[in-house]
Amino acid sequence: MEENFPCKINNGCDFGVELEYQSGFGNHFMSEALPGALPQGQNNPLKCPYGLYAEQISGTSFTSPRKVNQRSWLYRIKPSVTHEPFKPRVPSHQKLVSEFNQTNSTATPNQLRWRPVDIPDSPTDFIDGLFTMCGSGTSFLRHGFAIHMYTANKSMQNCAFCNADGDFLIVPQEGRLWITTECGKLQVSPGEIVVLPQGFRFTVDLPDGPSRGYVAEVFGAHFQLPDLGPIGANGLASPRDFLVPTAWFSKDPHPGYTIVQKFGGELFTARQNFSPFNVVSWHGNYVPYKYDLGKFSPYNTVLIDHADPSINTVLAALTEKSGVPLLDFVIFPPRWLVAEHTFRPPYYHCNCMSEFMGLIYGKYEAKPDGFIPGGASLHSCMTPHGPDTKTFEDTMVHGNEARPFKLSGTMAFMFESNLIPRVCPWALESPSWITTTISVGLD
Ligand SMILES: [Fe+2]
Repeated sequence: MEENFPCKINNGCDFGVELEYQSGFGNHFMSEALPGALPQGQNNPLKCPYGLYAEQISGTSFTSPRKVNQRSWLYRIKPSVTHEPFKPRVPSHQKLVSEFNQTNSTATPNQLRWRPVDIPDSPTDFIDGLFTMCGSGTSFLRHGFAIHMYTANKSMQNCAFCNADGDFLIVPQEGRLWITTECGKLQVSPGEIVVLPQGFRFTVDLPDGPSRGYVAEVFGAHFQLPDLGPIGANGLASPRDFLVPTAWFSKDPHPGYTIVQKFGGELFTARQNFSPFNVVSWHGNYVPYKYDLGKFSPYNTVLIDHADPSINTVLAALTEKSGVPLLDFVIFPPRWLVAEHTFRPPYYHCNCMSEFMGLIYGKYEAKPDGFIPGGASLHSCMTPHGPDTKTFEDTMVHGNEARPFKLSGTMAFMFESNLIPRVCPWALESPSWITTTISVGLD
């Protein structure tokens, strides 16, 4: 069908220019890179415009209730099926896990903390630079999560990644990510996040070279906006601030193009002679998207006591139990601290939930010296933790004289789960791992 295709092969979209996005969360979007490329009135016509092939990608079972049902229709130059068989990737990856058990990971109730992992000197792309830190459950049973980090310095070349296990929520900490997806392109900077749903092919370019970041992967659920309860109809992340790509495609031949598929935590490769980014038009509500954390509208205490961190949930992947997250993404953004006769830093606590924290930039109020950008911590179920000694003592010195104070220039975040994570051996053996110190029981 390619001979029917016009010479005008793309819409001129390039990463060097400001990209156009569609906005909204959970919308039914539509986009076409050529006029008239999107079929009207039906999804799967006998003959699609320009001789394109119609292909559906579903993110939920066909019979999921309408309010959670997600699928999109992609109209592409060649159908995805036209690839050679998948084979185990050589060399195998070794540091990706999607099923956590006693053979591949460790349970520990201790506080864990890591310095920023060094970015390698040798050429490393996003796939090879990705490694699992901890997680729980299994992608095979569609219940669980994995937390990864990445350190990379090289763009992916002539290959695309496809995660068949779950959705990625990527939090870049250093270096921009220029991500090409089947729905179009996304420019993502530190301070923004991007969600790449299960099954979408994507490639990551690193325009700044050395890059580092965090990734939460959820199995069997998709992220959604949290309910706002008594906050009302507005606040936290606004749906219109979520940005979705517009259609972009490449018609150029790509001999030896490789699809790298993560399936059950293992990598497989398949060759094909074309780019998977050959989608000329698409519509649907199963889409990749990005969000600028700087647009978040935080809520907080205005008189006494410290709000629970759930007050600043950006996105939530839920379990079937009401109010119980498979994984919440929560941020600690710049905000005013005004509470009276109150210990303003995070209170000491033991939670039934488990908390993995990262710091994108600035200082984290509860550990200004021990937790630096690019670092991480894990406080598992019922592991006691709280502010370090210095933070406690400085807070007590100010006492009730503390004035309203704006915490600025900081962006910490937390992946919080109801499931209890097991930790990968390379995370415990990493030179970046720090043994936490006990100082008068306060660290
Ligand atoms: Fe905590």
